[in-house]
Amino acid sequence: MSGLHRAPVGRRSLRCCQRPMLAVLLAIGAGLGGCERVARDMYSQPRYDPGEASPLFADGKASRAPPAGSVPRAMGDLAATSSGRVGAEAVTARVAAEQAASAPVPTLALLQRGRSRYEIDCLPCHSPLGDGDGPVVRRGFPRPPSYHQARLRDATDRHLFDVISHGYGVMPSYGDRLAPADRWAVVAYVRALQLSQHAPVEALPPALQATLRAQATPAPSAAAGPAPAASKGR
Ligand code: HEC
Repeated sequence: MSGLHRAPVGRRSLRCCQRPMLAVLLAIGAGLGGCERVARDMYSQPRYDPGEASPLFADGKASRAPPAGSVPRAMGDLAATSSGRVGAEAVTARVAAEQAASAPVPTLALLQRGRSRYEIDCLPCHSPLGDGDGPVVRRGFPRPPSYHQARLRDATDRHLFDVISHGYGVMPSYGDRLAPADRWAVVAYVRALQLSQHAPVEALPPALQATLRAQATPAPSAAAGPAPAASKGR
């Protein structure tokens, strides 16, 4: 108060003008406070949140399990927002991936994803190379067939996807650990492994073709005879 009396005239008149404004601000504040109370009422409704405890049901949970055979309408991180409208896209993408006949067009990102999943879920049995000599097999698990045999090179992408989804013989299913998009990424990586062991020479970059041809030539010349060529070849 004493501060107000000592204030210069200019500032005092400013404060006079501020008074009605203060009243208006207070009125607005009070009004907004009312809104806040209404908003809080909406948040604090007498209802259960998902996963909350409840004495109403025998299992003590408010949430009920969906009936058997329910099809999700929305899923993923965004399912809880926008009334599930955004999550619905994740369901569509999942269904499309599950129904696809072949892996998506390979990109470096897809192969890298496939490799990381392969190394976690498949390598223990199928080995880094895919020849079926993984660490688990060395400790006694039945040996899977090599990916590099003609039958599996000729197998469709869909067959590989289905083997991952449902298992095959003694191989367990990975459908619960790999989402459909990741299964396709693994299929693309298995294809890359197969190519790594069975690529036609003509499909290689020219420089690599030249190196391979140079390595391949010593054999006939060694057979043809002169001693220097033979020692060079060995
Ligand atoms: C626990 C060991 C194990 C793991 C892990 C494993 N597999 Fe297998 N897999 C096998 C065995 C064993 C077989 C042979 C099953 C049979 O013929 O009874 C097999 C067979 C296969 C086949 C050949 C199916 C055919 O037509 O003959 C493919 C393809 C395959 N696995 C892919 C995968 C992929 C991809 C993964 C990773 C997602 C994986 N496997 C993980 C053990 C495993």
